[in-house]
Amino acid sequence: MTALATAATAETNPLIAKGQALLQANCARCHAIGADDASTHKDAPPFRVVVTRYPPDNLAEALAEGLVSGHPDMPEFVFEPDEVVAITTYLESLKPQSK
Ligand code: HEC
Repeated sequence: MTALATAATAETNPLIAKGQALLQANCARCHAIGADDASTHKDAPPFRVVVTRYPPDNLAEALAEGLVSGHPDMPEFVFEPDEVVAITTYLESLKPQSK
């Protein structure tokens, strides 16, 4: 799972746009999903912080199996494999690019 492109953007990689749309639809009402927005739920960490805490592979697994742990306020989500790939691709794109 390290084949994720490095400096890809939503313009160059349609998966990023798809992942962003999925997060916008399902997560953005609590989590900040962008590069500098603030979470609307005070306890929900912005995704740009989440990606620095967890390797994308761990997040991918959690997304596929259903995110529940540590999510008292959060409904359970289970994503299809292609959606997981899109989401993790988007999340990777949030990370500061190591050049
Ligand atoms: C109803 C509000 C809400 C929604 C919607 C929501 N979350 Fe959360 N999420 C939270 C809260 C609150 C926390 C912090 C829980 C805690 O620390 O106890 C959290 C924590 C997380 C964490 C763990 C962060 C960490 O450092 O432990 C991940 C990963 C996460 N959310 C992913 C998602 C994803 C992916 C979605 C959309 C599919 C989503 N969340 C939707 C409220 C929400």
